[in-house]
Amino acid sequence: MLIDNHGREINYLRLAVTDRCNLRCFYCMPENGIKYMNRKDLLSFEEMTRLIRVFGDLGVSKVRITGGEPFVRKGIMSFLKGISELETIKEINITTNGTFTVEQIPALEKMGIKSVNLSLDSLDSQRFFDITRRDLFDQVMTTYRKLVDSKIRVKTNMVVMDGRNIEDIYLMLELTKYDDVSVRFIEEMPFNGTEGQGNATIWPAKKIMTYIEEKYTHQKMVDPPASTSLNYKIPGYVGSFGIIPAYTRTFCGSCNRIRLTPQGTLRTCLYGEGQVNFRDLIRGGVTDEVLGDHLIKVVGKRAKDGFEAEKSRSATVPVSESMATIGG
Ligand code: GTP
Ligand code: 5AD
Ligand code: SF4
Repeated sequence: MLIDNHGREINYLRLAVTDRCNLRCFYCMPENGIKYMNRKDLLSFEEMTRLIRVFGDLGVSKVRITGGEPFVRKGIMSFLKGISELETIKEINITTNGTFTVEQIPALEKMGIKSVNLSLDSLDSQRFFDITRRDLFDQVMTTYRKLVDSKIRVKTNMVVMDGRNIEDIYLMLELTKYDDVSVRFIEEMPFNGTEGQGNATIWPAKKIMTYIEEKYTHQKMVDPPASTSLNYKIPGYVGSFGIIPAYTRTFCGSCNRIRLTPQGTLRTCLYGEGQVNFRDLIRGGVTDEVLGDHLIKVVGKRAKDGFEAEKSRSATVPVSESMATIGG
């Protein structure tokens, strides 16, 4: 078992396979002027597979594939197939924007992908376009429908933004009436690739809940261990909903996750800086044992929570970097 310096078991790796994306979500990236990383600076799929194997031997059993948009990277399907065959990895999940995902659903089902989290910030095509700056709403909804009809568990992610998608909160809740889906409402974080918070007025979890309570009654559900979302059900509805306090950070006490950025930097907190670059270690020719030792070392020095991690950042790594370069 991999235990951090605050007694938390670390068993969950979030792996960003690319920093590229075909959308330009307002809360994640600026519209223009993005400098993508050079391909040779990204971890190769072979390097990622090796790291997952090494981390798996030390106690990681759950992997979430994120980006950028994971399905823009060529070779993703055979990479997923390969890691789905690793004994130590019991659960593989994917977070995607759903624009290229639909054809892959049968293959994902076959290789045993447990759950897909779909970014879905609006159920109105015009608002979807205004947020993502791309006209791909229909493709995403086709993916949503096919996922709900598949064996894969589905959660949707909506970043709640004042003046942009508040009316979608009720529309999303209505999705749970007949669909076995968990719709989640996320506090906006400042990781948008520009200076400062995207929206001046943040909707914290409490405000989101008050808004929901104006129209709905709800029952609290038992949250899975180390869940980022507080989960609820509307009586009589098939699905459920969740609120993710990503900005107010009330779930850090049970945080079981580490992250690898597309270029192989390990981060022990979303709000912190990178601790060690595994790409450089691998390309420097080190053994699996040395890779493992580095992981154990950084896990032994984790910040207590996202606030402590944020404070420890040096001025050269602003908190305004894009979510796509950190991995969501
Ligand atoms: P599961 O619990 O495995 O479904 O994953 P998740 O809900 O954490 O994953 P997902 O990729 O769907 O992320 C949903 C939201 O939670 C995103 O806005 C993430 O950035 C946010 N989030 C995920 N991990 C962390 C974290 O470690 N800290 C904070 N503050 N937010 C996080
Ligand atoms: N604040 C909150 N959530 C964000 N995501 C991307 N950028 C932000 C942000 N600035 C979410 C996306 C995606 C998940 C991985 O992270 O909605 O679903
Ligand atoms: Fe792309 Fe996801 Fe960032 Fe949107 S949030 S621009 S879908 S990486």
